[in-house]
Amino acid sequence: MKLGCCYYPEHWPEEIWADDARRMVEMGLSLVRIGEFAWSRIEPEPGRYDWDWLDRAIETLASAGLTVILGTPTATPPKWLVDQMPDMVALDRQGRPRGFGSRRHYCFSHQAYREQCRRIVTAMAERYGGHPAISAWQTDNEFGCHDTVLSYSAAAATEFRAWLADRHGDIATLNRAWGNVFWSMEYRSFDEIDPPNLTVTEANPAHWLDYRRFASDQVASFNREQVEIIRKHSPGRDITHNFMGFFTEFDHHKVGGDLDVATWDSYPLGFLEQFWSDEATKNAYMRQGHPDIAAFHHDLYRGCSEGRWGVMEQQPGPVNWARFNPAPLPGMVSLWTLEAMAHGAEFTSYFRWRQAPFAQEQMHAGLLRPDSANAEAAGEARDAAKAIERIGAQQPAKADVALVFSYEAAWVCGIQPQGQSFRYLDLAYQWYSALRKQGLDVDIVAPGAPLDQYRLVVVPSLPILPDGMVERLEQLDCPVLIGPRTGSKDENFCIPEGLAPGELSKLVPITVSRVESLRDGASEAGDGFAITRWIEQVDSEVDAEISLENGRGVVFKQGNVRYCAAWPDRNLFNTLITSMAEEAGLALSGLPKGLRLRRTATHVFAFNYSTAPIDISTISQGSELLWGEAELAPAGVAIWKRD
Ligand code: GAL
Repeated sequence: MKLGCCYYPEHWPEEIWADDARRMVEMGLSLVRIGEFAWSRIEPEPGRYDWDWLDRAIETLASAGLTVILGTPTATPPKWLVDQMPDMVALDRQGRPRGFGSRRHYCFSHQAYREQCRRIVTAMAERYGGHPAISAWQTDNEFGCHDTVLSYSAAAATEFRAWLADRHGDIATLNRAWGNVFWSMEYRSFDEIDPPNLTVTEANPAHWLDYRRFASDQVASFNREQVEIIRKHSPGRDITHNFMGFFTEFDHHKVGGDLDVATWDSYPLGFLEQFWSDEATKNAYMRQGHPDIAAFHHDLYRGCSEGRWGVMEQQPGPVNWARFNPAPLPGMVSLWTLEAMAHGAEFTSYFRWRQAPFAQEQMHAGLLRPDSANAEAAGEARDAAKAIERIGAQQPAKADVALVFSYEAAWVCGIQPQGQSFRYLDLAYQWYSALRKQGLDVDIVAPGAPLDQYRLVVVPSLPILPDGMVERLEQLDCPVLIGPRTGSKDENFCIPEGLAPGELSKLVPITVSRVESLRDGASEAGDGFAITRWIEQVDSEVDAEISLENGRGVVFKQGNVRYCAAWPDRNLFNTLITSMAEEAGLALSGLPKGLRLRRTATHVFAFNYSTAPIDISTISQGSELLWGEAELAPAGVAIWKRD
């Protein structure tokens, strides 16, 4: 695995570029990402390009021995461009323009902005496409960051209507599909349809779902336009985009399908603080991040681009954007780096080289302080580089477990949650975490991905069953677990004729006759477990495998397939995992709190996310440690060879 950093030559006097480059190499870095926010310097005025500084920056980095990932600057259109076409900005849900003065101030549907993007990307790709130092390209930056996938602009409305006409063919079909007879919502033509915002009460969920699908497709086609230009002018170079954490606003499997390498931006402390964990978890892992946050995304994004992935931005210290921004425990930056390697990353690149003393991110750490002295993370990057050198290149191993992840499922559950704590991503994450705590390696895969190589398959929830999904599940002979709400909607967000779980009842003969959501803190007890948040009333000719104390069935099983009709607690997750692992002949490890394992083809990695040392000698079974100690310190990593 290579190491790198994110660098902004345009932020620093040219006199220090060469020294920066020299120090990067000295620190063990070989990659550098540049350019992704530099439009105002590349084209200071309409049509006047200034390449000289970028030519020199690339030359300086290259002559120090670094290879360059060049970003297209389309996340930061310059002021003159916004002034030329003020309607290029997105409108928020309240219909207000998202103004100039930060970034991502564009609407994916604005055709003239797209033309400008094609122009600037073509100009860059023509100039640098054949440059020997350019190893890869990054399109734009973090599609969707700052809530920018959905726009309610006139441009979006126009494109949405065309998208709907293409999908539904004629307006009568759309009216029927959406159920528009309800509340007199019928339309006479596609031109009458607006985006689903600013309605008096909730808009039709079918309208929302199509709007989300449309918006996701706009991101995919925006990206694809850039990919096609870069491929033409820069053949043989990898193309990537840097995805985000805990983010489901567009279909990453679709965007990833157009890329060579999926990358993502890993900020474990910021994510822990910003997302749904309880206070106790946030306190316990304040300086480490929850032990599954980084791993979950590594495994998710590995599944987005046929296995090729990397970390484009790695948190190096306190960030500036979470509610609270603690510093990582000493050792964590190195741990996160090696964890990416264990999950098969091609590279990890730190964000950023030097902390900026100006503008929005001046409180965000870098590898260097603003005065150019090494910050804490510099030494940790060096340590990671040493470990990487010691153990050598790693080949990824196929995991035993597949967890099927669907962006559309996230949209469906978000549009009509029915209980405010039913969060699809949370459920998928809890499954992942429960599997990882048992020492299992997990591949997170798209609903259409091949499943036949796995020994255990978990589908946390899949409200809309894609065509052929039931047949594909039917062919599996390993244990399969299917979660609540699966098959509960058809593709137009309506309840299927035979009720949930739709066609899935071929595999487990059940009918979901009623669903209820539970208040936070409420639960229903079973023998040694409880269910929370969600429970379905299931009618079935088969007896439940697991029931509540009141006799209500929770888990139904036929052959190798189980349906879990509720949101499990930790104990029920474990019971299910234990039964399935036994059936699959998989050994479980039941890891101590805060410890995680991950195997490559040749090595086992152990990571201590807790604040106390953990004795790993029984887990490593006396194998010689190539890195780390058997008494694994907090933030420690141990590596040994697989038998
Ligand atoms: C990412 C973004 C970077 C920088 C970073 C700060 O979301 O891609 O440009 O803003 O966060 O943590």
